[in-house]
Amino acid sequence: MKGILLAGGSGTRLHPMTLAASKQLLPVYDKPMVYYPLSTLMLAGIRDIMVISTPADLPQFKRLLGDGGRFGVRIAYAEQPRPDGIAQAFLIGRDWLGGEACALALGDNLIHADHLSQLLRNAAKRGTGATVFAYQVRDPERYGVVSFSDDGKAEEIVEKPTAPLSNWAVTGLYFYDEQVNDIAPRIKPSARGELEITDLNRVYLEMGTLQVEKLSRGCAWLDAGTPDSLLQAATFVQTIQSRTGMLVGCPEEVAFRMGFIDADQLRRYAGHLGKTDLGRALMELADGERV
Ligand code: DAU
Repeated sequence: MKGILLAGGSGTRLHPMTLAASKQLLPVYDKPMVYYPLSTLMLAGIRDIMVISTPADLPQFKRLLGDGGRFGVRIAYAEQPRPDGIAQAFLIGRDWLGGEACALALGDNLIHADHLSQLLRNAAKRGTGATVFAYQVRDPERYGVVSFSDDGKAEEIVEKPTAPLSNWAVTGLYFYDEQVNDIAPRIKPSARGELEITDLNRVYLEMGTLQVEKLSRGCAWLDAGTPDSLLQAATFVQTIQSRTGMLVGCPEEVAFRMGFIDADQLRRYAGHLGKTDLGRALMELADGERV
């Protein structure tokens, strides 16, 4: 399975911060935002990743992430000239995907959960259909919303409903089988002119192959698209890291724990980070002083 990390858009809700910088490169506490969804894809065991961003921002992503070798993955890049919709990612990545199954992570989404790796690997291994994750929120009208029948089956999925049928928002992390390569080109632009990911998910729902995993109360899902949510995400990462000593959303750590890189590679990279707390934490991990 391959993975697409979608990091385009204009970030208008974060102006003026995003007038001259990509939203997904803004810091979330001690790391650039894109590190978090990158770590999520890697935790699913995905090692072939395409980063899609605007023509103006793509060079900065290349500078930050390179060819992915530092994380033991292969990173390809592609431009999205205009934010014509999330589902467009599969059209942009079509040749690179070569008909394979694909996960998609939105560049401004952060998921933190116990046993996340297991959950993600199960989704990646499912083989047929699509898997999305639902999370209970106070303001479902801001998201794609999924509602369930009495016996718990996903019934309807609607993008930004004015009268939401549930408070289960669909998170920005999606796993699709190879059929996505045939379904995505058939999606038509919505009333707001976008190729909606919710329309793609609805096709799977109607085929009876959309698996909706409810994320439990122990999980945290944050998107960092507004000044408030950006600050909340940063505070969340700071709190977890300083309280538990564990790292959140660190692709070098994930690479090491997943066996994508060895201790020497991790040590080399930790050295580049100098005397930062992150560098020290990674050095301890490489030296076996950290569980
Ligand atoms: O965060 C989860 C939500 O993400 C889902 O619940 C919704 O169903 C889904 O449509 C999306 O809603 P948003 O309102 O958050 O979408 P937004 O337009 O803000 O785009 C999300 C991210 O994807 C953002 O970082 C920008 C990027 N993006 C978006 C579009 C439309 C692109 O890179 N290209 C695009 O064309």
